[in-house]
Amino acid sequence: MTRNRYWTLADGPLPRWPQADTFVLREEEAPTVGAGQALTRTIYVSLDPYQWYYHRERTAPAGAPCHARTVSQVIESRTDGLAAGDFVFNTNGWTEYALMGEGVWRPGYMVPRKLAPSLGRISHAVGVLGMLGLTAYAGMDLMASPKANETVVISAASGGVGQIAGQLAKLRRARVVGIAGRDAKCQFVTEELDFDACVSHLSPSLPADLAAACPAGIDVYFENVGGKVFEAVLPLFNQAARMTICGLIAHYGDEDGGVQRRAALMKLGQPIFNARGMTVKSLSASDFAAGHHDEMLAYVAPLVAAGKIKYREDIRQGLDIIPTSFVEMLRGNNFGKMLVQVSPDPTLGQT
Ligand SMILES: NC(=O)c1ccc[n+]([C@@H]2O[C@H](COP(=O)([O-])OP(=O)(O)OC[C@H]3O[C@@H](n4cnc5c(N)ncnc54)[C@H](OP(=O)(O)O)[C@@H]3O)[C@@H](O)[C@H]2O)c1
Repeated sequence: MTRNRYWTLADGPLPRWPQADTFVLREEEAPTVGAGQALTRTIYVSLDPYQWYYHRERTAPAGAPCHARTVSQVIESRTDGLAAGDFVFNTNGWTEYALMGEGVWRPGYMVPRKLAPSLGRISHAVGVLGMLGLTAYAGMDLMASPKANETVVISAASGGVGQIAGQLAKLRRARVVGIAGRDAKCQFVTEELDFDACVSHLSPSLPADLAAACPAGIDVYFENVGGKVFEAVLPLFNQAARMTICGLIAHYGDEDGGVQRRAALMKLGQPIFNARGMTVKSLSASDFAAGHHDEMLAYVAPLVAAGKIKYREDIRQGLDIIPTSFVEMLRGNNFGKMLVQVSPDPTLGQT
């Protein structure tokens, strides 16, 4: 029998921000395949900020592997349309093996799908060619719709969503300013991704630095962070500016996961939003999944393949380090889209 190792949540109350001991490693036999199901081996586990919501709310069934979007390979199939060897996007979570198909719990909108490795690297299916690409495309192109020469600002600019959103705005010939943490991230954003400027939120002079980087004010703001970053952006909005609220990662450790801070942020911004005739919209990528995922893929995949959209991944190795990697990502110690590889990737010749 194949043994399966997986991470689940520890019993008892959970802390506001996760620690390594918030998670427990378990081992048992890999599940057997029922009718309408397939057994899959996880290759890449995607670590994303939103997962802390899921864990804090104990959304997955008790004792189940911690939820995550994954790229996996089918080992055995008893379902139509999937055969051993196929690569799939699914939601195995923090585990080496899992079933997909009939009767298997998964978050409602994360529909598993078979992958075509010819479209791009399979790891991209949980990133630029998956939900992160859709998030950036929906929040930037569909909602904010930047025009040539407008000033677009993006927080968490070197991260999974931020790097794509900024490049999409560049493709529309906007002037793009990133906000990121360490110098190396700011350098990456300007030198590799060709943003026009980048300022660090770690600097005490962030408000002045941002104002200097946006001499013509801000027309579009793609919000990933909240807190003092939002406070620095707020006075710089132009008339008829647009703001997409994608995420507020600075508040995910709040008592209520940031719900009240979101309301507080809107209250703080409201006088300026009103006075400047702004359009402010919250983004939920899942709302765009059915209608726009294929359209996003048709637009973005060729750009990635041609090197016109660059995409940096931060791929760590081994199931054992998932909890520490997750904690690091929430603290900004990732550099690019964070993934953990838990088994060889045959598309890269690994066995
Ligand atoms: N609305 C949706 O449907 C949707 C979908 C996907 C993601 N999101 C949201 O999009 C945002 C980015 O997600 P991602 O997957 O691309 O993550 P990511 O940017 O790859 O990683 C998170 C980054 O956030 C920055 N950060 C963390 N704490 C911060 C703080 N207190 N102040 C300033 N920056 C901080 C860090 O970058 P620095 O080192 O540069 O600070 C960190 O690397 C998150 O808020 C996420 O929840 C929303």
